[in-house]
This record gives sequence, C-alpha cells and structure tokens, in this order.
Amino acid sequence: MSVNLTINGRAATAQSEPATPLLWVLRDELGLTGTKFGCGAKLCGACTVHLDGEPIRSCSTPLSRAADRSVSTIEGLSKDNSHPLQKAWIAHDVPQCGYCQSGQLMSAAALLAANQNPSDAQIDEAMKGNVCRCGTYVRVRAAIKTAAAEMRRGKA
Ligand code: FES
Ligand code: FES
Repeated sequence: MSVNLTINGRAATAQSEPATPLLWVLRDELGLTGTKFGCGAKLCGACTVHLDGEPIRSCSTPLSRAADRSVSTIEGLSKDNSHPLQKAWIAHDVPQCGYCQSGQLMSAAALLAANQNPSDAQIDEAMKGNVCRCGTYVRVRAAIKTAAAEMRRGKA
C-alpha cells in the first residue's frame, strides 16, 4: 500500500506499512537522515519534524497520520542554511555533539513561525520536550532570541 504526502514542499509517495513510524520512513525509505532517533518513546525530541506546521515526534507517529498532509524536516528548513535559526545556531556555536540539534531546530522553527517575539517562558515551554545530553540549553535559548530579532527586523 502506498501513502501520499508532501515532504519539504514536494509530493512524495511512501511504500512502507501505514503503521511504520514516520521517522523510519523519512530516514530509511526517503533518505532524509537529518532527523535523528534518540529514545523512540516520545521522550527526547531528537526526531522532531513538523506535520502541517506543528512539531511532532516522528518516532511515535505512524506514517498513516501523515497521509495527504505536509511534513517538514530539517532538510527543508532552508536550501542553504540561511534560515535565521540556522544562522543564529552557527553564530552562537550551539551544537556540541549535535545529535539533538535538528530536533531542537525544528521545535524552535515551529515556535518562531507562530511567534516572532517569544518570552523566555514561551521559549522554555516550546523547547521543554527537546533533551540535550550535552547541555546546550543556554545557547539554544540565546540563538532563538537572535533569530527572532532577525525575523522581526526582516518584517520591519
Ligand atoms: S526519538 Fe522520538 S522523542 Fe526521542
Ligand atoms: S548537542 Fe549533544 S545531545 Fe545536544
């Protein structure tokens, strides 16, 4: 059985079983390996992607839930690392081992798509499901603020 969906703005068809976690469809079937496996149990956020713009845990979301819907992965954030978050991540030297960072970026991207002037509390709330074993939280928050400021400037 095939499932039609949109991935990073392009129509795609997945042949995996509908119950297959979306994470494995992205990584194994479609070759989008930027999304990472951490816990497999909705606990760490490493596998975060967007489903119709909302951050979801792809390790625990069946392919069937994405049928005829739009999925965005880290590969779709920008073509050339020019998303304000990606630039801020580099400027703040955020990643340590890097393993959690695509999930962090996707949660942050969903936040800034909805709110370009988040408070500290709103940042903490949006990012609370993304665990970083290297402890990059302070830099993540600083980079989100830098990116938010750039996005606001872009609209001014
Ligand atoms: S791998 Fe999905 S939440 Fe940890
Ligand atoms: S940068 Fe290593 S787990 Fe977050």
